Amino acid sequence: MLTTDLVRFKKLGKQITVLTAWDAISSSIVEASGADVVLVGDSLGMVVLGHSTTLPVTLDQMLHHTKAVCRGFSKPPSKQPIVVCDLPFLSYQCGEDKAVEAAGTILKNSCASAVKIEGAEPETLLVIQRLIRMGIPVMGHLGLTPQSVHKLGYKSQARDKNSQDKILEDSKRLQESGCFAIVFEHIPGEIAGKLRKNLTIPIIGIGAGKDCDGQVRVTADILGLSIEQPPFAKPLLAGRELCIDALQKWVESAKINQ
Ligand code: KIV
Repeated sequence: MLTTDLVRFKKLGKQITVLTAWDAISSSIVEASGADVVLVGDSLGMVVLGHSTTLPVTLDQMLHHTKAVCRGFSKPPSKQPIVVCDLPFLSYQCGEDKAVEAAGTILKNSCASAVKIEGAEPETLLVIQRLIRMGIPVMGHLGLTPQSVHKLGYKSQARDKNSQDKILEDSKRLQESGCFAIVFEHIPGEIAGKLRKNLTIPIIGIGAGKDCDGQVRVTADILGLSIEQPPFAKPLLAGRELCIDALQKWVESAKINQ
C-alpha cells in the first residue's frame, strides 16, 4: 500500500485505522489487527522509555525502534501496513537540510515510507515542501502537538474562534504543501468535522470525535498498559492488571515449586 492510497480511502469513504508500535512484538500484534498504518510515534519516549515528554527522543532512537517494528511484520511486504515514523524534536526544526538528512536516514535504513511532522509554522511548511520534493511523503500533525508541550501544555486545542480559524488555515497550508494526511489531536469534534469537509486529504483524529476520515490511537493506551492514560483514549482491555495478575501467579507458583 502507498500513502496516496489513503487519499483514495477518503474518496471511497473507507475509514483509515492507525495504531502505534514501538518494537517487534507490538508491530506483530498491530499487523495482525489489520490496521492500515503503523505509526512509530515519538510517544514511545513516554510509553516505553519512561520520559515525561517526547522532547528527549533522538533520531537514533526513532530509527532503532522503527527497525524493530519492521522486523516484527510477518506478512509479505505488499500486505504490510504503511509505516510512518515521527521525526523527533530538533530533527526538522533546524532547517531543511537537516530535516532531509533525518527523514532520509529513516527511509534509507528501515521499512518506513513516510514521516510525521508537527505544526505548520512557515519554516515547517518549507521543510515539508522540500521533503516531498525529495520523494519523502509527509503526514502533518495539528491541534495538541506534544513537541510544543512547553508552549501549549497537554490541554485540548482549538477552543476559541481565533484558534479554530488558525487550525483551518494551517490545515489548508499543510494540504497545499503536499501532506498526504493530517493527524488532529485533542480538538472539538465539530471542528474536526469542518476540517474533514474542507480538506481533500484524510484527517486522522485522536481525541477529535468521530467525524474524521480515520482514527489513530497509541496502542499501549488501547491495551490499558499506559501508566498515565490520556482522557480521550479509553482502554479496551485492563492490560496492566491482566499482566500483573498473570506474572504474580507465575512468581507465586515458581516460589512454591522451588
Ligand atoms: O507520537 C504519537 O504516538 C503520536 C500519536 C499520538 C498521534 O503522534
